[in-house]
Amino acid sequence: MVEDSVRDIASLPPHIAIALATLLRFLLCGEESATHAFGDSLPHSLADTERASLEVIAREEAAHAWLIGQWTTSLPETPVAFDVAATRRFFRRLQTRDRALHFARVAALDALVCRLLSRLIRGDALTPYAGLRAGLSRIRSDEIEHVRVSRAHAIRLGMRPAEFSAVAVEVEARLAVLLAPAMPAIRVMTGSDRPIRPRSGARAPAKERRPAPTPG
Ligand SMILES: [Fe+2]
Ligand SMILES: [Fe+2]
Repeated sequence: MVEDSVRDIASLPPHIAIALATLLRFLLCGEESATHAFGDSLPHSLADTERASLEVIAREEAAHAWLIGQWTTSLPETPVAFDVAATRRFFRRLQTRDRALHFARVAALDALVCRLLSRLIRGDALTPYAGLRAGLSRIRSDEIEHVRVSRAHAIRLGMRPAEFSAVAVEVEARLAVLLAPAMPAIRVMTGSDRPIRPRSGARAPAKERRPAPTPG
């Protein structure tokens, strides 16, 4: 699967390669941050059984980062796009001592990543590249499970569903700012620049629990 996807990457037309490089760079920042969050910061506050499930997720995030890293080495340097340092800061600031809030933010983020991956997989740009689509689908199926696990932890730790939706809306809004410069790349890949929204269709909160981190 890895070989097929790398071979596909190498045969992408230049404009698609540049657009994909832009979006993968963004995803890679998230994978690196998630590897740290699940492998280090979150497990400290959890019981052994919960820690085991997060270790599985941490390993998957590291595998995603590795795979995306393999792809990006075959792609061109992205000319403009988003602010990588600000993106890294955003992901780092998802971390908080409030465990329920942290899990909710991770779930919200991964839900949006799932949507972005779905758009890439379904988009016309990658139709001829089955190996690459299979690689993206593999990451997406892991992320779907991460959303489920993180959401379950957040709710078990006391977060009400309404609060969970509020956190999702906040993360989505902050992420939209970060992703704005990448919209042309999303348009190239998907033929559309509709906002990336979670399938849950979370609605704006009546009252915020705590502000999500601000890009930059
Ligand atoms: Fe991931
Ligand atoms: Fe994830």
